[in-house]
Amino acid sequence: MNKKNLVVANFKMKLANKLEIENWIRNFKKSTKNFSAKKTEIILCPPTPFLFQFENLIEREKFSLGVQNCFWEDEGAYTGEVSAKMLKSIGAGYVILGHSERRKYFNEQNSEIAKKVERVLKNRMMPIICIGENVEEKKADLTMQVILKQLKEILVNVGRGNIEKTILCYEPVWAISSNNPDKIPTSNDIMEARLLIKKFLVEKYGKNIVERVKIIYGGSVDPYNVKEICLESGMGGALIGSASVKPYDFFKIVQEFEEN
Ligand code: PGA
Repeated sequence: MNKKNLVVANFKMKLANKLEIENWIRNFKKSTKNFSAKKTEIILCPPTPFLFQFENLIEREKFSLGVQNCFWEDEGAYTGEVSAKMLKSIGAGYVILGHSERRKYFNEQNSEIAKKVERVLKNRMMPIICIGENVEEKKADLTMQVILKQLKEILVNVGRGNIEKTILCYEPVWAISSNNPDKIPTSNDIMEARLLIKKFLVEKYGKNIVERVKIIYGGSVDPYNVKEICLESGMGGALIGSASVKPYDFFKIVQEFEEN
């Protein structure tokens, strides 16, 4: 991954059957027919059962594939789990980890996320690690402490050789569209978070390596606000939930990154 920007589609469980997936792919292909991103890597993270469909139907030279979670062991007696090794073998190159919905509904802790990050890296995929404060933490003015704790605990076993193979996503939980935010962070708030993440990384890994680590933003990004909240805050990309389900909106977001 050498491109300047990253735009990641997190479909969650929103495209929920084969037909919806096929429609999405058809419409997205139409929008991107004569388009080839030069500066922007497009990463599509469908629900795992549909990975094959994407693998078969999209032009792999134009897009990369990722998934929304994985387990921390490669194989064994773990009923119901899907390992990084399996996902790698069917074409995934990226894994979203630590998403707040996984923390909320599955009680995922930083220590488990750390194990998953290690496993994803061992399988030569890139983890997209979500960090960010929830609404109570924001109200208590704990944003910076929360971000630092998450980084420290999740990156505990990631050494200098691997940090540039991770992607860090600042995603304030309260700003995610399904949490019905009455406002979203300003470009300044996002820039502050980006600088804090950078400072942590520089202290732990040194300046030279850190320049190569991608830091992106997630939370209610749409084609109309992407310029202000992602580009003006200096973020290297975006994690898109709701807007990714609409192929045309998603493509417009990609274009914003490509043109700016
Ligand atoms: P949203 O979701 O773009 O719908 O806010 C982002 C996410 O949860 O990753």
